[in-house]
Amino acid sequence: MVLGTSNNDLMADLKAFDESKLGVKGLIDAGVDKLPPIFVNKQPTSPRSVKASNESQQCIPVIDLAGIEDGGAERRKEIMKEVSDICEKWGFFQVVNHGIHQDVLDEMIKGAKRFHELDPEEKKSYYVRGDDTKKKFVYTSNFYLYTGSVTNWRDTTVCLMNPMPEPEEFPETCRDIIMEYGKGVQKLGFTFMELLSESMGVKADHLKSMDCGEDFICLTHYYPPCPQPELAIGINQHADNDTITILLQDEIGGLQVLHDDQWYEVPHIPGALVVNTGDMLQLISNDKYKSVIHRVQSKKIGPRISVACFFRPKKGNPRLFAPIKELLSEENPPIYRETTIGEYLANYVSTGQDYGVQPALERFKLQR
Ligand code: OGA
Ligand code: NI
Repeated sequence: MVLGTSNNDLMADLKAFDESKLGVKGLIDAGVDKLPPIFVNKQPTSPRSVKASNESQQCIPVIDLAGIEDGGAERRKEIMKEVSDICEKWGFFQVVNHGIHQDVLDEMIKGAKRFHELDPEEKKSYYVRGDDTKKKFVYTSNFYLYTGSVTNWRDTTVCLMNPMPEPEEFPETCRDIIMEYGKGVQKLGFTFMELLSESMGVKADHLKSMDCGEDFICLTHYYPPCPQPELAIGINQHADNDTITILLQDEIGGLQVLHDDQWYEVPHIPGALVVNTGDMLQLISNDKYKSVIHRVQSKKIGPRISVACFFRPKKGNPRLFAPIKELLSEENPPIYRETTIGEYLANYVSTGQDYGVQPALERFKLQR
């Protein structure tokens, strides 16, 4: 496949890229040393500057979960308050002493890397376009390949983890570790949903009982080294469409968060996980907790590996989601109309996850 020669027929290039089923990794393997035109990020480059984590007094906060289970009610309350304050202020933080062993984190990164570096013929058999598949584990490159504003320099696997698939539904190379890591992250996700429920003045199991963690989706991302990183993007800026996200990243770096109109790097902290709140929580909490815009910059070095786990209601769930009644008052009237997760996701997908267009949540605001 010759890719990157045709500026005037980007669609044909996209199709050839898709049909190769080899993703961005396949281009690197083929020796591509110039960014193919389909990957050139034509979005106006953001005027905002990027703050490295050590440059500023402010940096992405770190929460220590030590004592959440055995430290008594006072310690739990202290953590709950901290989670609440940081989620209100940042919506993005790192967490340490979260209960998932370092060996499990290390092996998860290695397992993800092993999959993306599988023999191409074997890897191809997992490749899909779109989500009309019954498979629990798939591999793709760019969810919005034909509709998004920019092709991301990244390949991704998607695994639907609730209910946990049968072992044979996973590729052997990462089967055991995804199952083990997934169990740990699922537990942690429910802990955060409990803390966030309590902080909104409702029962600890409120978000869970509203099915906010019903779907549990585990993505592994593979960002190959990029020949012209200044022209490309690993993940274009977006907000997550879920309740909360828990992310594991290796030491390469590149993840940035938009906070007070500035991009902040999310530094690699050994053993830490990155947590952020998503659109569904913003809607339910009536803007108490915000869904924060973030992106991943491409790098000359790599590959960068990350594993992102999303908690949200299942797509077909008929439940209506709206701001929690207990939070509402005359001073805090509902900002959003009620919607189903299916309607919400259809809206999100229609913009190709692109914040240059209009955040999906905006379209659910009640008229004032
Ligand atoms: C995502 C995401 C960031 C990363 O999967 O939604 O923002 O570091 N990932 O891979
Ligand atoms: Ni994201």
